[in-house]
Amino acid sequence: MFSERVQSLLSQMSFAEKVGQLRQCGPSLVGAFEVPFGELLDMMFDGRISEAEFGRLMATSSQDYREDEIRAGLIGSFNGVGNRETALRLQKLAVEESPHRIPLLFGYDIIHGFRTVTPIPLAESCAWDQELWQRTACMAACEGRSAGIHLTFAPMVDVAKDARWGRVSEGAGEDTLLQALHGAAKVRGFQGDSLNRPDTLAACVKHFAAYGAPEAGKDYNRVDMSPQRLYEEYLPPYEACIEAGARAIMPAFNEINGVPCSSSPRLLRSLLREEWGFTGVTVSDANAIAELVNHGVAADKAAAAYLALQAGMDIDMTSESYHEELVGLAVTDPVTARLLDEAAGRVLALKEELGLFANPYLVPEQSEADILLSAENRALAREAAQKSIVLLKNDDGILPLAKGARVALLGELGADRGEMTGAWAIGGRGDDCVSLLDAMQEEEPDVRYCSGIMEEVQDLASIDEAIQETDVVILALGEMKNQSGEAASRADITLPALQIERFRYVKAQGKKVVVVLFNGRPLAIPELAAEADAIVEAWHLGVEAGHALADVLFGRVNPSAKLTTTFPSSTGQCPIYYAHTSTGRPGGRSKFTSKYLDTPLEPLYCFGHGLSYTTYRYANLQAAQQGNDILVSVDIENTGDRDGEEIVQVYVRQLTAARTRPVKKLADFTKLFIAAGVQKRCNFVIPAEKLGYYDEELNFVVEAGEYRIFAGTSVENVLATDIELQI
Ligand code: GLC
Repeated sequence: MFSERVQSLLSQMSFAEKVGQLRQCGPSLVGAFEVPFGELLDMMFDGRISEAEFGRLMATSSQDYREDEIRAGLIGSFNGVGNRETALRLQKLAVEESPHRIPLLFGYDIIHGFRTVTPIPLAESCAWDQELWQRTACMAACEGRSAGIHLTFAPMVDVAKDARWGRVSEGAGEDTLLQALHGAAKVRGFQGDSLNRPDTLAACVKHFAAYGAPEAGKDYNRVDMSPQRLYEEYLPPYEACIEAGARAIMPAFNEINGVPCSSSPRLLRSLLREEWGFTGVTVSDANAIAELVNHGVAADKAAAAYLALQAGMDIDMTSESYHEELVGLAVTDPVTARLLDEAAGRVLALKEELGLFANPYLVPEQSEADILLSAENRALAREAAQKSIVLLKNDDGILPLAKGARVALLGELGADRGEMTGAWAIGGRGDDCVSLLDAMQEEEPDVRYCSGIMEEVQDLASIDEAIQETDVVILALGEMKNQSGEAASRADITLPALQIERFRYVKAQGKKVVVVLFNGRPLAIPELAAEADAIVEAWHLGVEAGHALADVLFGRVNPSAKLTTTFPSSTGQCPIYYAHTSTGRPGGRSKFTSKYLDTPLEPLYCFGHGLSYTTYRYANLQAAQQGNDILVSVDIENTGDRDGEEIVQVYVRQLTAARTRPVKKLADFTKLFIAAGVQKRCNFVIPAEKLGYYDEELNFVVEAGEYRIFAGTSVENVLATDIELQI
């Protein structure tokens, strides 16, 4: 199971040193704070202190890395050391002074870029572009390794169908297939063809499992669903990342059907290791082992440590449960001692795979300064941002802006560089970002700008002054970055009344209004959908946000992105998603159908929606069975006057089955370039396996019978044809 070196080390190490390999610490800050660091973080997140004040306090604090415990071999890894100098200094202590010279492993949250922050994953998923997803991960890995990091706590592949949940921003949206392909591409990008290189990172896929399905969209809340649904809709992306070679996985904070993921042998041993054959390392989420006490499945930290180790949890991230309790347990319990060997062995094996025993100081030859935020990396960030921008509405072709158009920009989000990094860019810096105002001023130095949209201002004279003598107003609306991400669920995902009031005020001045929406989740924006002249979904696009937006607004780039998450008409519709089942009363004129009295049944913008500056026409959809595959082909013509890239989607519905099936399920997609006036035929091969589902006994079945095949430009705008599948 383990190499000779690992077996030899295990035979020499004490229990305390083995437990040390399972102990992951964060840099604890020792500073001039009056309050504990955690409280300080809360104060920053809820706005009691500014980010600048928080940064000042950080700058005046020192980091405590428990160096004596490193020397004693009692720490195996760190989370959050983000610079080469510190990492190499601590590595030297471990390699030259600890009893068995075992190197440290450095982990970090590199979710969407390290220093070169790229679009949040939800945004980049809208590119439907596996090659792009892999390239940005590869770039992030190169930057992370240059800073001495070995492991990233990414990709996050939690299928999320409830926009109230703030962490929908961190993954690839509501669809199982997209999450799986997005996650696998990220694993390939992070890990490259070997971990024993100075430009790759071990990937830690997360959060295993179904963290994206918390009841009521409330973060960390219980997850309760049928095994069939878990297997069909939520587990495949984690499995796809394991198949792509992910060397670590992070169990989720939540329980599933009453069992916390952090203490579930069924999840962490039976499914992960026995069924899927995973041989890598399991890394707990922050403090999650100790939180088994809060879950009510462990009486105290000792019980929590025992439960987690028995379940198959290897590394304890920052809870100190293993450090405080496992040695005592191992001394008295041979099973714990054996499990301790297995877990420590897996951590040592990962370090070996990363080449850390051979060269614990393995970093790129170039300096961090030469690698981080390079022109090449910025260019890739700009490309990724361009391909993540979704054109939701464009009445009368108001976009792209005409040459010489007199434009004003309103709204703090249009000028705030820091807001462009999104909620999970720990290694990023606001000052590195190009805001939309920066980019517009590069186009037109005296472009008019005005704030007063997100905050109450006394009078509107500044807005009046900014928009007079303009043809078009670009209005930046949406969410601050800390309104999405972790612990940022919202019970109301509409825009604040002030933003709607400002929007309507500007419209009332007779101006054309292009809304640029900055947000980390779908928002319920019926007022904008009805009254804005155009809506550009700008998410949080990273360091090149402004340039990419200007490229689209001024027509240098033809937008091609499409939504990977449904936009609701109202919060009350959540969770709302396209792959729903029919119900026995799917709708129609009767009163007695599945609907609401006070909100529409349909979403505001459906899955797969995204406009272009050109138009496409679909025709001649055909489907035929060939062996165990369904061959699908369809014509797409670019009927406009601009070249463009179109994301062609194929959905399937099993018309009759032993269990209810989704009315549509994404089966395949492709993005293709089509020049103006050109028609292309697109061909797909859909393995019948993709049509399968789990029956009452949890057997995976693929059934003969009638299937409806759809192909088109969004889940609602499709052609359809039926096929009889023979098995
Ligand atoms: C957080 C997140 C997880 C992250 C971890 C380490 O609580 O849940 O996604 O990787 O802590 O920072």
